[in-house]
Amino acid sequence: MQRNGHQSWSWPLAASWGLGEQARSNNLALWQQEFQVASQRLGLQLTTLGSPLGQALVLASRRPAPRAAAPRRLVACGFHGEEPAGPWGLLRFLQRTDPLALDAVHLSLLPLVNRTGFLAGTRFNAEGDNPNRGFLGADAGPSAEGRVLLAHADTLREAGRDGVLSCHEDVLADKAYVYGLEHREAPGPFTQHLLQTNLRYFEQHADGKIDNCPVKDGVIFNQFDGSFEHWMFTLGVHAAACVETPALQPFEQRVAAQAEMIETFLLGRD
Ligand code: NI
Repeated sequence: MQRNGHQSWSWPLAASWGLGEQARSNNLALWQQEFQVASQRLGLQLTTLGSPLGQALVLASRRPAPRAAAPRRLVACGFHGEEPAGPWGLLRFLQRTDPLALDAVHLSLLPLVNRTGFLAGTRFNAEGDNPNRGFLGADAGPSAEGRVLLAHADTLREAGRDGVLSCHEDVLADKAYVYGLEHREAPGPFTQHLLQTNLRYFEQHADGKIDNCPVKDGVIFNQFDGSFEHWMFTLGVHAAACVETPALQPFEQRVAAQAEMIETFLLGRD
């Protein structure tokens, strides 16, 4: 099935967020407000890399970990606006995590890349471009957001040197899967731990094809598609993954899965 980049999707936020009964997942102002609060609690420093389509593209980072050799890990969310459990899941992780636990990692975040898409609830940005394609010269070239990220290649590569996680959803799916990019022949612990975390919440996607990519045992492995994670992988980061929660399932369950996958990625052993 062809994905519609212009169709609008949003879900009501549960009352447990305490954000008002009418709030929906594409409420950018609310998400931004809560992100600011969570950032302050954890002492995150926010740097605006650029302002594609009039919206700040922010890189958040924590002060360096006490142990200089701690891994450098980068989490990116919100490339696709119809996949809101990523940014909300990151927020939930930031709200609940122990600041001392985060000292185990040099943490960097791209909390919400495609703000115009998030607000509209659409996969594509306000210019009709796919922000997760075109990083490696193919397709129609990079989006406005992509051009900002490409201009900060050195910063992002260093931030994600020991791992990059990009948080996505699949609005056509009722089961979970993961894209893994590793410098090896088959998915290793990096990809498998993320998949296993996803499968604590959802059933595993059947073998077959998704968007013409072969999926086997819940993993699409080393798919070179010009995405952000593929670009980071070619820049030499240790490993990269794109996790996919099934958007045909309840929103809060997807948020919880995303939050736990972020925790697994940042604070797990591999
Ligand atoms: Ni996506």
